[in-house]
Amino acid sequence: MFFIDTANLDQIREAKDLGILDGVTTNPSLMASEGITGKDNVMRHYKTICEIVNGPVSAEVISTDFKGMIEEGKILADIDENIVVKVPMIKDGIKAISWFTENGIATNCTLVFSAGQAILAAKAGATYLSPFIGRVDDISWDGVGLIKDIAEIYSIQGYDTLILAASIRNAKHIVDSAKAGADVVTCPLSAILGLLKHPLTDMGLAQFLSDHKKANG
Ligand code: G3P
Repeated sequence: MFFIDTANLDQIREAKDLGILDGVTTNPSLMASEGITGKDNVMRHYKTICEIVNGPVSAEVISTDFKGMIEEGKILADIDENIVVKVPMIKDGIKAISWFTENGIATNCTLVFSAGQAILAAKAGATYLSPFIGRVDDISWDGVGLIKDIAEIYSIQGYDTLILAASIRNAKHIVDSAKAGADVVTCPLSAILGLLKHPLTDMGLAQFLSDHKKANG
């Protein structure tokens, strides 16, 4: 499955027009970078995204305490049936994910950097787990290796949580994550478009068109 990791409506539409888009993930930094501020504007923006894409849309809570996360998550979940409440991997976050699971609200456990965190989130019943592979690579660890480890553990233990490879930087991350066992990749538009690129495709197409022109005038 392919999600786009942005709050930019034009980019969401562009990915959707390719016919390959299954969902959207956002985070507070992505919302801020689009200039979406204030509770009402944020809610309206999520609603607009849900109107564009018919699939899961992750909307992140800002609270870091259990009560606050539950209150925020309920409001977010009320925006649209496709909203997935994104919750950080902290102690109260795990508690909140357990509560959302018991109450039928889909969750995405974010800011995951270890297999141990992945086990906790799965036990709490998270719908999606977001290991940040680019940020793992940024500190010279092995982001794709982390996906592989989590996929192995989830398969051995029979956990239902879907692995959503996040913090994708390029097309290679997408291919490697798919190979390592990620169920979903969430990517910037540039990484999705990067999958198109191959010099032999460009050379081959130029040759076909030139041969056609020579033969047909
Ligand atoms: O949405 C979460 C994640 O994908 C963030 O990516 O590029 O800020 O590390 P990045």
